[in-house]
Amino acid sequence: MEHRSSRSLRRWSMVLAALGLLQAGRWLPAFAAGESNVNAASKIGLTAMETPPGAWSAPGVDGNGQPAELMGPEVCQQCHWDRFESYENSPHGLALDRRTPAGRQACETCHGAGGNHVAGGGGRGVGGMRTFDLEKMSVEAINGVCLDCHSRGIVALWHGSMHQSRNLSCVNCHNVHGGHDKLLREPSQPQLCTTCHQQIRAQLLRPSHHPIREGKLVCTDCHNPHGTATERLISATTINDKCYECHAEKRGPFVFEHPPVRENCLNCHQPHGSSHEPLLKLKRPYLCQRCHNTLGHPSVLWARSEEDAAAGRSVYQLPPQLFMRSCTNCHVNIHGSNHPSGKQWHR
Ligand code: HEC
Ligand code: HEC
Ligand code: HEC
Ligand code: HEC
Ligand code: HEC
Ligand code: HEC
Ligand code: HEC
Ligand code: HEC
Ligand code: HEC
Ligand code: HEC
Repeated sequence: MEHRSSRSLRRWSMVLAALGLLQAGRWLPAFAAGESNVNAASKIGLTAMETPPGAWSAPGVDGNGQPAELMGPEVCQQCHWDRFESYENSPHGLALDRRTPAGRQACETCHGAGGNHVAGGGGRGVGGMRTFDLEKMSVEAINGVCLDCHSRGIVALWHGSMHQSRNLSCVNCHNVHGGHDKLLREPSQPQLCTTCHQQIRAQLLRPSHHPIREGKLVCTDCHNPHGTATERLISATTINDKCYECHAEKRGPFVFEHPPVRENCLNCHQPHGSSHEPLLKLKRPYLCQRCHNTLGHPSVLWARSEEDAAAGRSVYQLPPQLFMRSCTNCHVNIHGSNHPSGKQWHR
């Protein structure tokens, strides 16, 4: 059974190879017209390109740099209908947009010219097609094809980013054939990112967490995985500026500022998840006691009220510092206050 189908595939291939060569001639003028449009578009700043075409995706050569004819997508479609379909249904297949592969050499923009592949009847290793397989191509070569067009906007700071320096490839996260939204490999960002970042998955499962599991936030609300000027791939000038984007009321300015708040929200909070509500690094009062000594406040677990102590009564109670919201039972406006007597954020 297998034998017969592979033989018939070979025969079918040869017919198509001849067909392909015929079609190549028809296709070339169309490609040439596309190319001149790309150039026109780049003059008015429309193109996504920065590197001149050719650095990685030169027309007229296959993936090994050997001269090869362009076949056109109709030829590839004959044998790779599933790949054709996923490409056609993606933003890369929009021929009206001259910046896309469809506006250039279609499949062959990415895979290299297919003349030798088709003339050889198709097949693995035939005609030097680029596979984008991490076992067969270097990360640099794979990314180079994508970066030929995607060098601005969201991807502008890729070089030198943590993910680039750890040798990640665009295809670790993207699947240009039939990927999900934004051509991602997984249906959702948390699924995608936590395939590698297991410790973040664990944090998201803690009782207090940013509502990422609930779908109200995604990783890229705070991070740009393609690189940022700020540490930890944070897509804002500072961590606090990122937090203010959604928690504007914490920005102030306040008449009475609490210095650690101004300095960095992460002095007290965890960004992903914590066992201490609300997203606190430590349980109160320990959170506060990292910086404040307990002068003026009882510092032991079981204490006598001043009244009981004065009267010599041995009534020991949990002090208010340890109930419920602990220190913030009294120091309620911990992020800062504009109240005339809010110096210690009691109001
Ligand atoms: C934007 C660049 C791009 C375009 C355009 C493109 N591909 Fe691909 N193609 C890829 C990448 C990347 C992969 C690797 C898929 C993966 O990550 O699993 C791939 C995989 C493939 C494979 C499987 C390779 C293997 O090793 O098994 C085939 C076949 C293929 N593409 C054919 C086509 C055809 C036919 C077209 C046009 C209809 C096309 N591609 C258009 C980038 C592209
Ligand atoms: C005559 C049929 C045929 C045509 C036409 C054809 N291919 Fe293929 N191609 C194959 C077969 C068969 C394979 C092996 C795939 C497999 O085993 O899954 C293959 C493999 C590939 C691979 C993986 C190469 C490798 O070395 O592993 C890529 C990429 C590819 N084709 C792209 C294209 C593109 C782009 C075109 C159009 C220019 C094209 N093919 C036209 C039959 C064809
Ligand atoms: C010939 C230029 C070109 C090449 C090569 C190219 N792209 Fe694109 N890509 C585009 C254009 C143009 C768009 C549409 C951009 C837009 O609408 O703003 C696009 C869109 C995308 C999108 C967004 C999809 C969406 O749903 O919004 C992703 C992700 C993407 N490309 C990834 C890749 C990856 C990964 C590669 C390499 C395997 C690649 N591209 C190669 C030109 C290219
Ligand atoms: C670590 C995972 C990861 C890697 C690696 C990665 N991306 Fe992305 N990319 C994403 C995610 C997640 C999004 C969706 C962002 C969003 O929805 O705002 C995205 C979106 C995009 C978009 C669409 C931008 C838009 O305007 O909507 C393009 C284009 C893109 N990536 C290109 C690339 C290229 C090129 C590379 C390789 C140099 C690459 N990506 C590497 C995760 C990644
Ligand atoms: C509300 C904003 C926000 C969201 C949403 C967010 N992060 Fe973060 N993330 C941060 C901040 C802030 C840091 C810096 C932590 C530090 O410096 O200690 C960080 C750090 C990280 C780190 C570095 C390791 C570490 O723990 O310090 C990884 C990895 C990470 N985030 C992955 C993710 C992933 C994956 C998602 C989505 C599931 C995500 N983040 C969602 C704000 C966020
Ligand atoms: C293929 C694996 C992989 C995927 C998928 C991945 N990452 Fe990473 N990421 C890494 C590696 C490796 C590092 C280097 C640090 C480390 O080992 O944790 C890293 C580091 C980070 C850091 C810390 C950067 C710093 O400067 O310390 C953040 C933030 C981050 N990733 C966010 C994301 C987000 C958001 C996604 C999903 C869009 C994602 N990652 C998907 C592998 C991955
Ligand atoms: C993209 C928007 C967004 C950004 C950016 C953001 N948050 Fe949030 N944050 C939310 C949402 C949504 C909630 C849930 C609010 C709710 O359920 O009412 C939340 C809740 C919180 C909570 C309360 C959690 C609880 O259990 O009640 C804290 C604390 C918090 N965020 C701190 C931060 C810090 C610190 C930063 C910066 C590292 C930050 N947020 C950045 C959207 C954001
Ligand atoms: C000195 C420690 C500390 C710092 C620094 C800090 N917070 Fe808080 N935050 C708290 C405490 C304690 C609570 C709980 C307050 C309560 O229970 O009344 C809280 C609660 C929150 C809440 C949820 C309840 C509410 O008030 O909306 C948000 C959101 C929040 N903080 C955001 C931030 C942001 C944004 C920053 C940085 C600008 C920040 N926090 C800096 C200690 C801090
Ligand atoms: C990262 C260190 C840090 C943490 C954690 C911290 N604080 Fe502060 N706090 C400060 C600094 C610094 C000042 C300013 C001291 C000054 O002006 O003398 C301050 C001032 C105060 C003041 C006013 C003191 C005065 O003399 O007016 C109060 C009250 C206070 N903090 C309560 C708290 C509470 C309650 C918590 C826990 C929710 C907390 N702080 C957590 C560093 C911290
Ligand atoms: C029962 C209410 C209450 C609780 C609970 C409380 N405080 Fe206070 N705190 C006050 C009052 C009232 C003052 C003002 C004292 C004064 O001005 O003489 C104060 C003053 C302060 C000051 C200013 C410097 C000082 O010692 O006079 C700091 C710092 C402070 N508290 C930190 C904390 C911390 C940390 C906790 C939790 C361990 C806490 N407070 C719990 C009521 C409280």
